[in-house]
Amino acid sequence: MPFQIDSFDAYLKAQKESQSDPELFWSGIAKHFEWQKPFTEVLSGEMRDGSVRWFADGQINITENALDRHLKERGEQIALQWEPNDPSATSRSFTYRELHEAVSQFGNALRSLGVKKGERIVLYMPMVPELAIAVLACARIGAIHSVVFAGFSAQALSDRIEDAQAAMVITADEGMRGAKTVPLKSTVDEALKENTSVRNVIVKRVTSGKCTMVQKRDVWWEDVIENSGDESHCTPEIMNAEDMLFILYTSGSTGKPKGVVHTHGGYTVYAGYSFANVFQCQPGDVYWCSADIGWITGHTYIVYGPLLQGGTTVMFEGIPTYPDPGRYWAICEKYKVTQFYTAPTAIRALMACGDEHVERHNLETLRVLGSVGEPINEEAWHWYHQKVGQSKCPIVDTWWQTETGGIMISGLGNLSPQKPAHAGYPLPGIHPVLVDPQGTPIHANEKEGLLCIESPWPSMIRTTYGDHERCLNTYFRPFPGRYFTGDGAKRDKDGMYRVIGRVDDVINVSGHRFGTAEIESAINQTSGVIESAVVGCEHEIKGQGIYAFVICERAYEGSEALKMRSAIEAQVVLGIGKIARPDRIQIVEGLPKTRSGKIMRRILRKIASGDYERFGDTSTLLDPSVVAGIVDQARHLQSREQ
Ligand code: PRX
Repeated sequence: MPFQIDSFDAYLKAQKESQSDPELFWSGIAKHFEWQKPFTEVLSGEMRDGSVRWFADGQINITENALDRHLKERGEQIALQWEPNDPSATSRSFTYRELHEAVSQFGNALRSLGVKKGERIVLYMPMVPELAIAVLACARIGAIHSVVFAGFSAQALSDRIEDAQAAMVITADEGMRGAKTVPLKSTVDEALKENTSVRNVIVKRVTSGKCTMVQKRDVWWEDVIENSGDESHCTPEIMNAEDMLFILYTSGSTGKPKGVVHTHGGYTVYAGYSFANVFQCQPGDVYWCSADIGWITGHTYIVYGPLLQGGTTVMFEGIPTYPDPGRYWAICEKYKVTQFYTAPTAIRALMACGDEHVERHNLETLRVLGSVGEPINEEAWHWYHQKVGQSKCPIVDTWWQTETGGIMISGLGNLSPQKPAHAGYPLPGIHPVLVDPQGTPIHANEKEGLLCIESPWPSMIRTTYGDHERCLNTYFRPFPGRYFTGDGAKRDKDGMYRVIGRVDDVINVSGHRFGTAEIESAINQTSGVIESAVVGCEHEIKGQGIYAFVICERAYEGSEALKMRSAIEAQVVLGIGKIARPDRIQIVEGLPKTRSGKIMRRILRKIASGDYERFGDTSTLLDPSVVAGIVDQARHLQSREQ
């Protein structure tokens, strides 16, 4: 089984083989990696009851594949190239040998602090090399990492630490994002106020800003490293293929964020395989993914995928517009980036800043451009293609999810046909299907349906941490025998997929996922708020914005209403973080509820999109006049804004 696909015909062949004998196909791919103990079993269990296992009797440690395996051939090649937030600050790079040493040293440090295999460690860090090092060091010693995006609030961080029952938190004094300094250690302190599971907090000095250390609990990164002994060797823990590698929290349509669990074996195989093929990386290539390691994109396609493939991965601390909107392109030029991977939100934001910022940079080395996280609109696609890719780079519009672990539907570099706003064809081994709400497959093309995946793949979600029932209910029970993505999609006449967006109560803001329930529960904590309903609304840059309809204890006018809205915003920032701040808050007298008390979100979505008329069947509404009231007010608000 060839690991690297080098033509569209080879893709078609691989896809056919994966269909006729999936076990043979995946065992061929998996043998490309180094196993501590080879597997004899390929696939066991079933999607029907969420019991799928891959390579279950094999043993493998992902870090041996991402680091040790490359030492002989490319020990002196740069593995990690770090670009600081401030362009005049010193950049840092690590060869495979140096990264191996840094990871070994930190792995030993964790062991010296008593961290054991299977313990959970939460990472709440800025985009500095030590974040990647800590991720890999956890994996090395069999600790389960759970990275929490450093933009989440203390409350959100605390919820995740509690759910994971983490033994340790690794953080930094502060982080730098553009002109702003982000407090991290003080947020961790706040999050740990009532915590009983965390024994230690390791703190990396990044800004040397003010930072109080709690005696006995808190230790400096530099100090633990100094006391950790041998830096050249850290015995990798023996990991069963199905042992947990990481937990990453993501939002669902109900309740609190859930911890998506990935495992050493299947994730290694699929992260490596999908990276190699989607980005068509060759030795000597410099690949850059501008995501944050706090999200799945950063896990799979900044850290693990590129390193599994022996590539050079660029990691950037800052933001696209600092010190100016040419920063991304300056970085591409500086490091001679060959593959660049970013989100439509960033593309739209930079497009709005004007072409001159791109035009003044030499982007000759770029060969593949990637897009991820949300649908890319045609205008942004064309701008990316023409201005950044100079009409010569293919765009891989990669559709996938935290739960899928790796890219599922996408072009493969320049091998696949392309169509703006279409993710395209599934990767080899991935078998999507569109179904109607009753679960009947839709075979005809040019039809819209609910996107499911027909057969298991190695990096699929294993469970939601501590709550397997929730995992079953969300992904495996809606359409028994299939994995349900929560997305709606359409296949065109050529069978290319276009992912339209979520069909559940999840909204995608700048490529970040939020459950409406999660935002509502934060809003409802505001004093004076009775109830709220949140829906997504169109947003020029962010793709989707957050529109909140809120019922308060009494009516507010003028400056009082303004104050109330600010209080609601502040509460969301406190409960989740700035990234979830609502774009619009409309204080309403009532919400459109059915007689059984369910909010008719469909109507609210229409109002949020400025469509005040076509509400469809509203006969089940308890009080239809509520809708008229909300519409009048929305019209009034809009006319005032124009
Ligand atoms: O709705 C889809 C959208 O992002 C969701 C997954 O979000 P998350 O788990 O945070 O992972 C984002 C990065 C992989 C999906 O259910 N999505 C992701 N990529 C695309 C997309 N929608 C359209 N096109 C894409 N390329």
